[in-house]
Amino acid sequence: MSSRYLVVGNWKMHPATLEEAKRIARRTRLLAAKLAHTDVVACPPHAFIQAAGSRNSPENFSIGAQSVSVQEGGAHTGEVGAGMLKSLSVRYVIAGHSEERAAGDSDEVVSQRIGRALDAGLTAIVCVGEKVREESGAHFAFIKEQIKNSLAGISEDKRSRIIIAYEPIWAIGAQDAMPPEQIYEMSLFVKKAFADVFGPDAGLKVKVLYGGSVNFRNASDIIVRGKVDGLLVGRESVNMPGFSELLKAVDAIRA
Ligand code: PGA
Repeated sequence: MSSRYLVVGNWKMHPATLEEAKRIARRTRLLAAKLAHTDVVACPPHAFIQAAGSRNSPENFSIGAQSVSVQEGGAHTGEVGAGMLKSLSVRYVIAGHSEERAAGDSDEVVSQRIGRALDAGLTAIVCVGEKVREESGAHFAFIKEQIKNSLAGISEDKRSRIIIAYEPIWAIGAQDAMPPEQIYEMSLFVKKAFADVFGPDAGLKVKVLYGGSVNFRNASDIIVRGKVDGLLVGRESVNMPGFSELLKAVDAIRA
């Protein structure tokens, strides 16, 4: 496990207004400034990215984007390119979120998005996760394939800017997160699958996050017993009282 924790807030299609986005971002920056061992990434919708940053952001606070175009530039209506995000001081891009995969992204498209993000100098947070857990253990093979195919064509020199977020789909937007013991097992498996692509050393170094119904109550347990490097947080990242408690709980693990 790395020496600092990483908590990524995926705001999804929230909040409804610019004013609210500014408020959440300001609050998140202030919370981050109080943490000693934790890096915080806020991923607002593209429309609010610029407003979420600040010249006075603490060093451990960054902005991420929820997706990036597979195109570099040109006549592509509605698309937002990696270079544009970079020019807005974005440092991270989420790729392959299950909601985007459900809307049509194949592993191949995910690998193109990752490629664009990495080429622009950004760090890619690559989401993987099974729809269901089967007694036969078929989800292991599924995750392995998803990692291999999503990282196809990515050159080795960029591997240090790849983070894997393991998010079992059945635990996203659900009542409960995956039990920490299972998270531990899956995080080891994800590292092994990453090592199969980029070599044993890469497997030891890659950061693995867990996502899926993380809240202030379960966050610490997931990191301590699930032995992950951090969390990808949906709903709780725009619920300020909860996110505040979550960040404090994570930072307190090392205190
Ligand atoms: P959730 O979402 O924390 O609301 O379950 C997680 C995610 O989809 O990244």
